[in-house]
Formats: sequence, C-alpha cells, structure tokens
Amino acid sequence: MSTMRSHGCQTYGQYLIWISRAGQTGINEFVECMTTNTTEFFRESAHFDILRDLTGGRGPQQFNQDRLADKSEIRIWCAAASSGQEPYTILMSLLAELEIIRQFPEIKFLATDIDRSMLDHASRGIYSQSEVRSLPSEFQRKWFRPLASPSDENPRFLANAALRDSITFAPLNLFDTPYPFKHLFDVIFCRNVLIYFDRPTSQKVVAEMARHLRPGGFLFLGHSEAGVIRPDNMKAVANAVYRKDS
Ligand SMILES: C[S@@+](CC[C@H](N)C(=O)[O-])C[C@H]1O[C@@H](n2cnc3c(N)ncnc32)[C@H](O)[C@@H]1O
Repeated sequence: MSTMRSHGCQTYGQYLIWISRAGQTGINEFVECMTTNTTEFFRESAHFDILRDLTGGRGPQQFNQDRLADKSEIRIWCAAASSGQEPYTILMSLLAELEIIRQFPEIKFLATDIDRSMLDHASRGIYSQSEVRSLPSEFQRKWFRPLASPSDENPRFLANAALRDSITFAPLNLFDTPYPFKHLFDVIFCRNVLIYFDRPTSQKVVAEMARHLRPGGFLFLGHSEAGVIRPDNMKAVANAVYRKDS
C-alpha cells in the first residue's frame, strides 16, 4: 500500500495504470513488492550434506552409482536464487567436496530469479554481518573478506571473485514455460518458492524442471514443499530431494 501511495495512487486500478506507464521500472518495482526474498546461507542445511554425498559418492549406496565428481562438467541451476546465499552455498559445498577427493570437473552454474534487484545483490556478493552469521566460520574465512576495518560497526563481507565469477546470474520468471535451456542440468535447486504458487502451477513448474534434468539428475525442493508437490517420474531419495528416472 505504501508503494501505491508513494506514486499518488489510491486504488489498485490507478496503480496498474502507473505500472503500465512506468514500463520496466514499474514492473521491477511491483515484483520487488510482491515477492518474499527471505533466504540465508546453508538454509535447510541437510541438503548441502546430501549434495556433497552426491558429488563424492560418499553417502548412501544410491548416490555411488552416479558420482557428480566423475563427470567432465557439472551443470547446476538454482532457480529462485534470491540474493545469492543459496547458490553460493551450493558452490562452496561442491568445491569443498571436490577438494577433498581431488577431482575437478568444470562447473557450469546458472542462478535465476524473477527479482532483478535480488540478482544485482547476488552478483555483487556483498553481505552484512547478520547475513554471514549462518556461514560456518571455515567457509567465511576461506571465501569472504571483510570490506572495512574490524572496528567498523556495520561490517560487510565480499564473496571471493572465484565464487562470484563461477555463477551466471540471470532473470527468469518460473511461470514462463517452456524454459529456454539448450543443455540438461545434473542438479536443480528450486526451494521455498513453489509454496507461493497454486498447486497446478507448482506441478507445471516441477514438470518443466524435470524436462531439463538429465536422466539420473537431482531436484531439490524446499522441505515444506515436499509434502505438497509430487514430482512425476522421479524417486524421492531424501527429504525433498528427487532423482529423475534413468
Ligand atoms: C523465499 S525466497 C527463497 C530463496 C531461496 N530459494 C531459499 O530457499 O532460500 C523466494 C524467491 O523466489 C523468487 N520468485 C518469486 N516468484 C518467482 C517467479 N515466478 N519466478 C522466479 N522467481 C520467483 C523471489 O523473488 C524470491 O527471491
């Protein structure tokens, strides 16, 4: 409402007219108001242990047959990436595992969101003290550097260029099917966004994602979404993690 009023609009109809006149700026602002961008590093952290198991094949038997580390390249898509904490967590977890087992496939990493202001934040890779609080200290030390002196009251932390440059950040509205990808992904993360869609839309998005997964590839949903959405032709292999049939 405050956004509407700031443009002198008293009704939704007036606001709609303002958006259509303001063009892309109006649309961006509307999207920012309508979306919830809550996220954090290592959110629903069990998923990153599973990702490491998938990568190095060190987890349950079912993951050994298909070690990501054995591929010449790993393709990952993080949909609804918000301000970047999720894709950076995925990448740091993968790299940690690959360093331990000393195998280094090329990583092709796409992170998308509908909200361009979040993508800007993500690609800048700058986070506040409270945002980095959920990062284990070894990851913070290794991958982030403080931008100001230790006495600064509001220190901010910059993600290492090696992390930032490894991820392509791009806008994508999950409603816009079919998605324009040429290659299949090994892993797709789509967490904590489908809960905001109605069920037919969520099912459609998941079906479209399945189409862009290679056989044997993995889809990660949010923990609260797993009970509601049932991906077809995929087997649940862990909480909210699905493997596409080979
Ligand atoms: C609650 S955040 C979740 C972020 C992250 N996936 C996580 O689990 O921490 C939801 C994100 O979905 C994005 N989003 C909402 N609707 C979308 C749509 N139709 N297409 C793409 N992204 C969307 C929002 O901009 C927001 O960044």
